[in-house]
Amino acid sequence: MDRKIVLITGGSSGIGKSIGNFLHEKGYTVYGTSRNPDNVKDSVFPLVQLDVRDSESIAKAVQEVVTKSGRIDVLINNAGVGITGPLEEIPAEEIKNNFDTNVFGPIAVMKAVLPYMRNQKAGLIINVTSIAGYMGLPYRSVYSASKGALELITEALRMEVKNFGISITNVAPGDFATNIATRRYHAPLIEGSPYEESYGRTLRMMDEHVDSGSNPEKMAQAVYNIIKTDVPNVHYKVGAFMQKFSIVLKRILPDKVYEKLLMNHYKL
Ligand SMILES: NC(=O)c1ccc[n+]([C@@H]2O[C@H](COP(=O)([O-])OP(=O)(O)OC[C@H]3O[C@@H](n4cnc5c(N)ncnc54)[C@H](OP(=O)(O)O)[C@@H]3O)[C@@H](O)[C@H]2O)c1
Repeated sequence: MDRKIVLITGGSSGIGKSIGNFLHEKGYTVYGTSRNPDNVKDSVFPLVQLDVRDSESIAKAVQEVVTKSGRIDVLINNAGVGITGPLEEIPAEEIKNNFDTNVFGPIAVMKAVLPYMRNQKAGLIINVTSIAGYMGLPYRSVYSASKGALELITEALRMEVKNFGISITNVAPGDFATNIATRRYHAPLIEGSPYEESYGRTLRMMDEHVDSGSNPEKMAQAVYNIIKTDVPNVHYKVGAFMQKFSIVLKRILPDKVYEKLLMNHYKL
């Protein structure tokens, strides 16, 4: 039985919970996190309090895991939130909150964990990004940008810490059926707004995609496979074929053709 110590941010729901359950069943020692662990009654692995926007809570959570288990072998930076809206109409504080959660949060957690991993001369960090981070998607500009930023942070950091025995990788999910759509910030549909009709239509499509998304267990299996890999890849994509293929299309098609495909898809 493998007794690796795993810390998953956002272990209370959706993908993080699925990964935690799966790894717990496989015999790993799993710690998840939640902003309000006392509200989560059904977790099969312990949840420590952590808000990725609060550096003190990150330091306390990491310290708690190290005190209890002596080390952190795998960090899964999974906590994240969605955001939708016409860029022109999204309040600046919501844009900032999204970057605080999806970009500065995971960076802060990595900064807290890296000293332990360097001392251990071993460690694996898996950053949960998004297929939406590979392209600017209409009415998801901020989300695409935050996940794209984390992809590049991973690429760069990977080279900085390789010689310390630490591996870092990105896992980009496509659409998965979780609570993300109900919990994300939606810029309100403003009556009479020039964006009202097309944003409304796109928002309905986005919500349908998440509701009919894959089972988060698929992400858990993928993460498990990565943990078992000696030298993980830089990028992994997990999701429906067309979602993964959209990244290939972006690479091979001229920009304007790709943009046309996206606009047709979203009926813009
Ligand atoms: N579902 C999809 O279709 C999809 C697609 C692409 C990428 N993703 C990414 O996958 C990850 C997991 O999403 P999900 O679909 O599982 O969503 P979810 O069901 O809403 O779960 C989000 C998790 O993040 C935690 N979280 C949110 N804000 C936090 C904060 N400020 N500090 C600490 N934890 C916070 C939540 O914990 P508490 O509320 O308990 O604190 C919760 O456990 C996210 O990074 C998301 O962007 C999801």
